[in-house]
Amino acid sequence: MIRSLVAGVGAYLPARVVDNDALASRLDTSDAWIRERTGITRRHIAADDELTSDLAVEAARRALERAGAKPAAVEAIVLATSTPDHTFPATATAVQRKLGAPIGIALDVQAVCAGFAYGLAVADSLLRLGHARTALVIGAETFSRLLDWNDRSTAVLFGDGAGALLLRADRQGGTLADRGLLATKLAADGRHYGDLWVDGGPSATRSTGHLRMNGREVFRHAVARLAESVLAVLGETGLSVDDLDLLVPHQANLRIIEAVAKRLGVPAEKTVVTVDRHANTSAASIPLALDVAANDGRLVAGRLVAVNALGGGFAWGATLLRW
Ligand SMILES: CC(C)(COP(=O)(O)OP(=O)(O)OC[C@H]1O[C@@H](n2cnc3c(N)ncnc32)[C@H](O)[C@@H]1OP(=O)(O)O)[C@@H](O)C(=O)NCCC(=O)NCCS
Repeated sequence: MIRSLVAGVGAYLPARVVDNDALASRLDTSDAWIRERTGITRRHIAADDELTSDLAVEAARRALERAGAKPAAVEAIVLATSTPDHTFPATATAVQRKLGAPIGIALDVQAVCAGFAYGLAVADSLLRLGHARTALVIGAETFSRLLDWNDRSTAVLFGDGAGALLLRADRQGGTLADRGLLATKLAADGRHYGDLWVDGGPSATRSTGHLRMNGREVFRHAVARLAESVLAVLGETGLSVDDLDLLVPHQANLRIIEAVAKRLGVPAEKTVVTVDRHANTSAASIPLALDVAANDGRLVAGRLVAVNALGGGFAWGATLLRW
């Protein structure tokens, strides 16, 4: 039996930091409103010449370094993003080139904020089916390029960044006590296509467009679906919420994170929060949060971790893994 093990994690945030006061100086909003409704205090914004692939490569390099691996070992690159460098080719191929990785599998996964959960599942399947022995799963976004900077209801919520995991196919062990990805649950409900979307695109408008959102509807569904998906992956393995060492949720809004944790009965000290510093970095938020937890010592080998995310589509999912 092959299982996908996490060999390393890495992340990258652009140098430019924009706090709430900076936004309030050009939009009809305030630090107090943003903090109270979202928990966000600041976000990182990519430099004009920084592309999604640049952020992704930096995060990937750091994950490789942590794993003690070289780019030459990377046999697959799965990049979750909704902000590709270009409409095509896949930004994963730009990452492959910039990283100096050899000929192998490279593709983008587009499930918006749920992209990292979907990307993990794709990479896990590639490894378990024997298509590759080592895979980089990257979430990288430059959402600042999709925002309508005159729309206070969306401009304050997002940031740019990237995070990456290096996964390795492993033949040892297959019990719940062994390390690796244990269970995945993915879903989408296209009836909500118009609740969180970008009003442009090559086929519909021949333009890039801007992010539009029905915030209340997103909020309502996010809490229910995110909690359900964690229960689903736990249920599949026969483990319970009490067995969890860490919940690493998609970082969209502190109120959503707290509501999901409360619904599940996961205490605050077991819930990783980075939305205050990173804002919502879409597909990058989970690996960025994993990197923070690895750096501050909460994530060590053997810990049972659940990650979950919901985004445009709606698409959502959860993964249960032993770090
Ligand atoms: C967006 C969100 C923070 C709005 O919070 P809310 O409590 O639902 O607020 P509402 O949308 O009801 O708006 C309340 C008021 O605040 C105003 N408002 C919206 N954005 C504002 C801002 N940045 N600053 C000040 N006021 C703002 C609205 O215009 C509205 O004013 P009105 O009552 O005069 O019409 C919240 O709905 C949310 O987080 N939703 C989920 C969004 C999300 O996470 N998306 C990504 C998922 S991957």
